[in-house]
Amino acid sequence: MGIFDTHAHYFKEDFGEELEQLLADLPSKNVEKVLAVGCDLPSSEEEIALAERYDYIYAAAGIHPEYALAYSGHAAEIPDNWENELEALLKHDKVVALGEIGLDYHYPEPPKDVQREVFIKQLKIAKRLDIPVIIHSRDACADTLDILKEYKPRGVLHCFSGSAETAREVVKLGMYIGFTGVLTFKNSKKAWAACEAVPLDRLLLETDCPYMAPVPHRGERCDSSMIAFTAEKMAEIKGVSTEEMIETARRNAERLFFNDNI
Ligand code: NI
Repeated sequence: MGIFDTHAHYFKEDFGEELEQLLADLPSKNVEKVLAVGCDLPSSEEEIALAERYDYIYAAAGIHPEYALAYSGHAAEIPDNWENELEALLKHDKVVALGEIGLDYHYPEPPKDVQREVFIKQLKIAKRLDIPVIIHSRDACADTLDILKEYKPRGVLHCFSGSAETAREVVKLGMYIGFTGVLTFKNSKKAWAACEAVPLDRLLLETDCPYMAPVPHRGERCDSSMIAFTAEKMAEIKGVSTEEMIETARRNAERLFFNDNI
């Protein structure tokens, strides 16, 4: 009855030499499955390589909005045929989602139109391959919703930071919503309200590690075992036991990423 961490970044750059031992130990800490998420082609390949070596790890491949400029034809080192390369990665046995992709208007770069272009290109690939998407959206709520309404992907809005009203709209589109350790932070009233607005069968648990460690580990380097604290808070908000929350969120994730009819 273990945890499914639906959004983790296990890159050598962040975890160094400790990475292998950490991943070897996670199954003994009640972590049953991990979805390791890429941010561009090389980091997606890095996560796929982990999925090949660890049974319980699955991978997602995609171009994060932060890398949109490079993948919009403005960087010499990115091949013109990156969409074909991405498609090839998505056909790997252990790749269960396209992500993470989306919009991030927190900083002025990359330009919004470039982000939208790379996002939409990938939504079209997801539709063609019938694969779920993992959406990142920061300070870009209206544009994200407009695009989701137009392209209607299957998938999850991860590390949700929007209002309860936005959460309801996303649920109406048939999508899932993922919450990180932010849910355990002291001033997260907005996230609690959003979580309350999402039906139990649409909630996913995630870490977004190495970032977003839940209280009492806030500020530390996060890993999938810490998700138990987020599950506890989510359970409190939803009025269920922590065990039931972990179990329900895992089944939701299996339904979305493995097409399991449960
Ligand atoms: Ni992420």
